[in-house]
Amino acid sequence: MRLSIIVPTYNERDNIPILIKKINDTIDFTDFEVIIVDDNSPDETWRVAEKMKKEYPFLRVIRRINERDLSTAVIKGFRQSKGNILAVMDADLQHPPKKINDMVKKILAGNDIVIGSRYVKRGEIEEWGIIRKIYSKAATLLAHLFVPQTRITNDPLSGFFMMKREVIKDIQLTPIGYKILLEILAKGMFKKVTDEPIIFKKREKGKSSLGLGVIWIYIKHLFRLSWGNREIIRILKFTAVGLTGVFVNLGVLWALTDLGNVYYVLSAICGIEISIISNFLLNDLWTFKDRKKKGISYWINRLLKFNIISLPSFPMQLVVMGFLNEIFGIYYLLAAFIGIVVVYIWNFVANSFWTWKEPR
Ligand code: GDD
Ligand code: MN
Repeated sequence: MRLSIIVPTYNERDNIPILIKKINDTIDFTDFEVIIVDDNSPDETWRVAEKMKKEYPFLRVIRRINERDLSTAVIKGFRQSKGNILAVMDADLQHPPKKINDMVKKILAGNDIVIGSRYVKRGEIEEWGIIRKIYSKAATLLAHLFVPQTRITNDPLSGFFMMKREVIKDIQLTPIGYKILLEILAKGMFKKVTDEPIIFKKREKGKSSLGLGVIWIYIKHLFRLSWGNREIIRILKFTAVGLTGVFVNLGVLWALTDLGNVYYVLSAICGIEISIISNFLLNDLWTFKDRKKKGISYWINRLLKFNIISLPSFPMQLVVMGFLNEIFGIYYLLAAFIGIVVVYIWNFVANSFWTWKEPR
């Protein structure tokens, strides 16, 4: 076995010497290489790294002149690497090098990908404030929602991971921005994935090059991946089913009240429940057909879950509407519409994560 550690760098001249020394001191096997991929940093990180090659023969340096992107730098490193096991880590010492040994062991034990995870037991983030933690959690939730393959890990946005080369052998990676692991999970060939708890350290030297612009790039990336995955199509199907439900709901209400002479409130209750059932049937047969376990007891279980999610939708919609109208003075039809959108999002998210959760 041979390990290639890819380290993308941009303005890390003070960190690189410490990182290389640490890797050298901690790795307890010999066959490995460290590939620095530097995007022509103004602080000449590449020069600092070049100078260390003599003392550390496992070190290789790639200097890219006309590109500046974390993900493509990592891919460049993959292409130039010789290992059958590939790892990616940051240069700024936020990722603990001593974890590399444990991660290799997990790969040798049969895992295809090992992810240095901040969101498992004994995992942690040292420095971030509450706001950045919330951002990160929300971004993770979106990844889990739009790219269901990422549900296999608690931390699909981690920049520290290791994998067998076979995982990416036959796929085309075309990522944008920061989240290369996301793309690997979306497209790669793997069965077993495991999380290795890490403590995401404080950045000692230099500063993060991550700004607000990356949020927009991230959303774009997510949409592209979920389009490729057909997860967007699933959302459209769910929407179409929801619309049929409106007609079923009103149709039953009208038929029972007008044709059947039933008291209209009772008809409305029937309309709600019957449309919930028809929505369930369509979603089960169509929207989520790839995601269910066979058997009547599973089916009943899903029907119950779908009901549990749908029933509070109606009061929820009213609450949102009332709130927007009474407190913010929003025109009642607009408030009602926003209420419907909120409930619709709630329905999709809850059903995607619970009723028809990705079978592991
Ligand atoms: N080659 C290259 N080109 N490297 C880059 C570039 C670039 O344009 N931008 C950043 N890097 C390098 C940095 O030098 C560092 O080694 C690593 O990529 C991570 O950059 P940071 O700026 O330190 O990012 P961060 O700490 O905010 O984000 C880290 O944590 C995130 C988890 O929330 C990264 O690991 C992200 O990938 C990760 O998602
Ligand atoms: Mn960092």
